[in-house]
Amino acid sequence: MDVAALSSTAQSLVAPGKGILAADESTPTMAKRLAAIGLESTEELRRAYRELLFTTEGLSEHVSGVILFDETVRQTADDGTAFPRLLERRGIIPGIKVDRGTKPLAGCPGEVGTEGLDGLRERFEEYAGLGLRFAKWRAVIRIAAGAPSAAALATDAHQLARYAALAQEAGLVPIVEPEVLMDGTHDLATCATVTERVLREVYAQLALHGVALEATLLKPNMVLPGSESGADVADAVIARVTVDVLRRSVPAAVPGIVFLSGGQSDEAATARLDAINRIGGQPWELSFSFGRALQAPVLRAWAGDPENRAAAQAALGKRARLNGAARRGAYERSLESAA
Ligand code: 13P
Repeated sequence: MDVAALSSTAQSLVAPGKGILAADESTPTMAKRLAAIGLESTEELRRAYRELLFTTEGLSEHVSGVILFDETVRQTADDGTAFPRLLERRGIIPGIKVDRGTKPLAGCPGEVGTEGLDGLRERFEEYAGLGLRFAKWRAVIRIAAGAPSAAALATDAHQLARYAALAQEAGLVPIVEPEVLMDGTHDLATCATVTERVLREVYAQLALHGVALEATLLKPNMVLPGSESGADVADAVIARVTVDVLRRSVPAAVPGIVFLSGGQSDEAATARLDAINRIGGQPWELSFSFGRALQAPVLRAWAGDPENRAAAQAALGKRARLNGAARRGAYERSLESAA
């Protein structure tokens, strides 16, 4: 493993002012996103939509990398260029989601485990050959009565570590994503306690499996009150608690932390990333790897009509730019109404 080369890729992914576009929706998830704008999901429609995203003018100014789904890696732009190659040519690092989603976790009612470790070494070899330079694996942790269980957390942390070790062996930078879901009635303090517990366990397992932290990125949830708690917490408080939890559990060798948006509105995700960066003085870059918070306005503007292409690309350019500003703690709500 060439740790220096991998670490350089990890650093490029969190270069100042830049973050990651998560466009790795699985086929069923993409079908949901398209249904929400009244469209039936077809392979060609998914391809056309991804081409629209990736060919947005100036995207590389604020987007360092894009996470792709397996289907997209094998698709091409209208001119025949494979998507990973098209991104590289535009100065954007192509990555790949390698987990195969979640299934109920036996013995842990109401909890899920992530699938996809079997055969992963061989899949990584193929992905490296296709030019993919980083990867993502998502563990999903739910807060509820009796959850997360110790068994679910141990399983998630162990799998994330095995995945990360295999990614590095194949020459890809692993993004380690333990997502504590926002769903639920729990308060902010509960999310903080659970997130800290999860992260401590994940880093213990990464150490046990010999993963080079310099050549990884962490993709966590922000620490938030449950979406059904009715709590309204100021962005500055969310930022402070999130940073405190991360400081207690994430080693300084990790070059960057790239938050998921997790169902927050696009504006809320940007405002909170901004508040996090305003605190300043942390050992890691604090950036974004947003899916919905970058794409929701794009899907709305596009609505599947080729005539809306320019408007949809403008929507992506705007969110990328505003999140780029949030990376520097320079975002203001007033920027939302400016074009
Ligand atoms: P969201 O930002 O929509 O949560 O998606 C990020 C992601 O990649 C989840 O795995």
